[in-house]
Amino acid sequence: LRALVLAGGLTFEREVSINSGGQVVEALTRAGVDAELHDADAELLPGLAAAPVDAVFIALHGATGEDGALRAVLDLAGVPYVGSPAAACRLAWDKPAAKSVLRSAGVATPDWVALPHSTFRELGAGAVLDLIVARLGLPLMVKPATGGSALGVQKVTRVEDLPAAMVSCFAYGDTVMVERFVDGIELALSVVDFGDGPQALPAVEIAPESGVFDYTSRYTPGLTEYHAPARVDDAVAARAAEVALTVHRVLGLADLSRTDAIVTPDGEVHFLEVNVSPGMTETSMFPMAVEAAGHRLGDVLGRLLARRAR
Ligand code: DAL
Ligand code: MG
Repeated sequence: LRALVLAGGLTFEREVSINSGGQVVEALTRAGVDAELHDADAELLPGLAAAPVDAVFIALHGATGEDGALRAVLDLAGVPYVGSPAAACRLAWDKPAAKSVLRSAGVATPDWVALPHSTFRELGAGAVLDLIVARLGLPLMVKPATGGSALGVQKVTRVEDLPAAMVSCFAYGDTVMVERFVDGIELALSVVDFGDGPQALPAVEIAPESGVFDYTSRYTPGLTEYHAPARVDDAVAARAAEVALTVHRVLGLADLSRTDAIVTPDGEVHFLEVNVSPGMTETSMFPMAVEAAGHRLGDVLGRLLARRAR
């Protein structure tokens, strides 16, 4: 089996992706797969269709990797890849759109508003702030509507901090999403499908030392405590798994995904977002879930590649 692992690219998560790609190549090589890393750049395109690989593994995070663009190119070139199809990625990548679809499907998710930059011109900043606080109260989570690795994400407890938080988000994209803050235990819910239906891996519980799971607490070893499996009772674990499988199915995802969720003290599981190219770094939760299930990462990714191989 010859696999091409795509990573890097020109996204805000380039560094994370290069780290993920390196881990994936190492894990695959240990599992006996002939895996090669390639930057997802323009040089890749000319030779893609003729590349002597059986399938591609996308370890690319952020735009192009997760928004469906790269997958559409691979579809055009006729190169098989592991993971979700382009259209499903476009939906999953857009956090407000995914939340809206999932809420309609009965999945709990914190209330939100999505505000394109133009809203501020149309309504005026004061009116927008009033609208947000009237609708959602405080505290709030302010996030770019698309993106990963918590870049731009901030918790806002005072209304006077809201404008600055939103300005930071607009650095990452045209639309900001403001969510009601829901307190609880943060869980990462990984799903794999080897062709016989999606199955949930053990939930990974996330406990950042700082209380906030931001970019630094994600990628600096030692700054976050992970518990795999999560320290929740069986009923909560079962509900969390059900939510992750519903997200995977309803959004039309394939092969692998990682849903991030919050469990409130009363045991309700709230969907936050789903990652179609989950991080594969040494501090990422998908590899931890694979290990907690008693598998090796290279074997799991190798099986997914073999299933898609041409
Ligand atoms: N966006 C990062 C890579 C993650 O969710 O793991
Ligand atoms: Mg994410």
